[in-house]
Amino acid sequence: MAELLEIKHVSKRYRGLVANQDVNLTVASGSMRCIIGPNGAGKTTLISLVSGHQTPTTGEIWFKGENVTHRSVPQRSRLGIVRKFQTPTLYNNLSTYKNLELAVLGSRCAPKRRHTRILQVLELVRMTEFIRTSVSRLSHGQKQWLEIGLLIANDAELLLLDEPTAGMTAEETHATGELVRGLVQDLHLSAMIIEHDINFIRDLRAPVTVLHLGAVLAEGEFDQIQQNETVRKVYLGEE
Ligand SMILES: Nc1ncnc2c1ncn2[C@@H]1O[C@H](COP(=O)(O)OP(=O)(O)OP(=O)(O)O)[C@@H](O)[C@H]1O
Ligand SMILES: [Mg+2]
Repeated sequence: MAELLEIKHVSKRYRGLVANQDVNLTVASGSMRCIIGPNGAGKTTLISLVSGHQTPTTGEIWFKGENVTHRSVPQRSRLGIVRKFQTPTLYNNLSTYKNLELAVLGSRCAPKRRHTRILQVLELVRMTEFIRTSVSRLSHGQKQWLEIGLLIANDAELLLLDEPTAGMTAEETHATGELVRGLVQDLHLSAMIIEHDINFIRDLRAPVTVLHLGAVLAEGEFDQIQQNETVRKVYLGEE
């Protein structure tokens, strides 16, 4: 599998504080990578460096063989790097369909194909039955899924998800895992996912990187990570 994203020796300092320290990490095309670690470990910072909301102090970010370290957020999003924020960016008084319609206006999708594209996206995020529903009437989980739908409608290739299941019920969390796995498989998307919900991470069955004090502490399959003594000590043991 070709590497889609390559994070090379990336460090980020905020004045005296080291948020990321010599991080090396890759995400292969059509695959997922989970990032876990204690509060303040530098997970969100790392996502910001990939999305372009922050610039590394040193090191480089490469996407599809191109150095994007100094590219802006819109430039990266045109390349397919898209980030989902926790606070929804949806229009509450508009329907699910209208929200998607606005999203595809900004995509590469030709006007004639937009309606079909919206229906496709609705199907992918399992929201077809809510096509005419006003966003204000959707549950917290449904809003988050629609947000993911907006990203896909915008030709995402790499989804950056920071705690996508925060505030969700156990059932919604499980459905989100299925949804993300389905998207990666069916659309050959890639995803970098930060989560504190360890059951959600286990169910994704993807390689895991553990960050601690800004640096990579461990990397491997979920089972290896779970059995790693140091990881248990600094993070999993807390649970
Ligand atoms: N814009 C900023 N300015 C200054 N310091 C920052 C900034 N953003 C993050 N930090 C600091 O960098 C460190 C890493 O923060 P970050 O938000 O990346 O951690 P995190 O792993 O996402 O934590 P959490 O699990 O709580 O979300 C923290 O000490 C934080 O206070
Ligand atoms: Mg965070």
